[in-house]
Order: sequence, then structure tokens, then C-alpha cells
Amino acid sequence: AGRCVVAVDGPSGSGKSTVSRRLAVGLGARYLDTGAMYRAITWAVLRSGIDLADAGSVAKVAGEVDLRIGTDPKGYGVTADGVTVDAEIRGPEVTGAVSAVAAVPAVRVLLVTRQREIIADAGRIVVEGRDIGSVVAPDADLKVYLTASEAARAARRSAEDATDVATTAADLARRDRLDSTRKAHPLAQAADAVVLDTTELGIDEVVARLRDLLTDRG
Ligand code: C5P
Repeated sequence: AGRCVVAVDGPSGSGKSTVSRRLAVGLGARYLDTGAMYRAITWAVLRSGIDLADAGSVAKVAGEVDLRIGTDPKGYGVTADGVTVDAEIRGPEVTGAVSAVAAVPAVRVLLVTRQREIIADAGRIVVEGRDIGSVVAPDADLKVYLTASEAARAARRSAEDATDVATTAADLARRDRLDSTRKAHPLAQAADAVVLDTTELGIDEVVARLRDLLTDRG
């Protein structure tokens, strides 16, 4: 089969990752977790010890990191300068700093370029993030924007991370605010995105709806 790019955007806890991976497996497509790329750069920035508020230094470190990410939806590895960082990038230090790093325009330019290369090489791929339908792949075959109530998102994330719901809810609200209000490529719903509220939907239901949408579009 030919080229097929599916863009999945939305805030954290909206079900993006699980839905995107399952959809990719079902389609026999590749999968790209762009959040993991911003997280890996953040890990390198934290390791370098530079001041997070110094955008010039953050951009410099980002430009020097040898970042590699797999695209197997059943399990992909992320390395930064040869170090496997799959576990570290999910930790509280990286989660606390990633929105600041992702707001640096030079970091975004760098990663958007890499993401477009990966998409072009893959041909058939499900890509998840915050700005995929709006910036990275505006010509995607299907653009989806997943939402869910704040309570549902916090409950899902706290179950995944084994942290209490109140702490998770506060972290999600803080990241949503930073991600939605930054100047460069904020979290955005593309005008032609299909919006799905997943608060009351199971994962399988969401995946089935997306498959139907793809079938309708041929
Ligand atoms: O999806 P995930 O929670 O792993 O993303 C981590 C952070 O990376 C987000 O809170 C956001 O700041 C940033 N991000 C982004 N653009 C993307 C994907 C993630 O700015 N396409």
C-alpha cells in the first residue's frame, strides 16, 4: 500500500499514545512519538547542567545531541548520545522541564525537520504530538485531535505513572497551559482535524472510529 500519514494531536492523558500505537499496529504502519523526542532533548539539556531559561544554550545543546528514535509501534527505543533514555525521559525531572525546552523555537525547528524526514522515509506512519496536523504534517491523510475531561486525563496519567491524582492533575494543568500559550507551534487543533472526546470512550472504540474514518477517505 502507498503513503498514509495519520496525525494525532491533543493534550496529555487524552489517550494519544495508546490509540496511536494500536492504530499503527492495525494498519501495519510505523509510529512516531514526537513527545519522546522533546523529552530526550530535555534529558540532554538537564544532563549538561545549563540554565533552562537560557534559550541560546538550550538550542546549542539540542543541536549537538545525537538523538535516535525507533518507529516500531510495538516498542521503540530512544537514545541520546548513545545512552538509552527510555526510562529517564518518563521521570519527574524531564516531565517537569520538557515544556520549557519545547517552547524554544530553535529546538522546534530542529525537531520538526527530523520528524518530517522520518515521516518521508516511513511512508505509512501514525505520528502523535501537539503540532503534527498544524505544523509537522499539514498534508496528513487524516488529522485527529483527541480530548478528554481534565479529570479523566489526570486519572489515566496517574494510573500509568503510579502517582497520586492531585499531583498529576496539577502537572497536566501546568503543561497544558505552557504548551497552549507558547508562541512557537502551540498545542493546536488543525482546522481540518476530526475532534474526538475520549472521556466516555474506550481505547478500542476510539481506534475503531479512526479506522472507519480512514476507510471513508479511501
Ligand atoms: O506527549 P508527551 O507528554 O510525551 O510530550 C511531552 C511534552 O513535549 C509536551 O508537554 C510538550 O511540551 C512537548 N511536545 C511538543 N510538541 C510535540 C510533542 C510534545 O511541544 N509535537
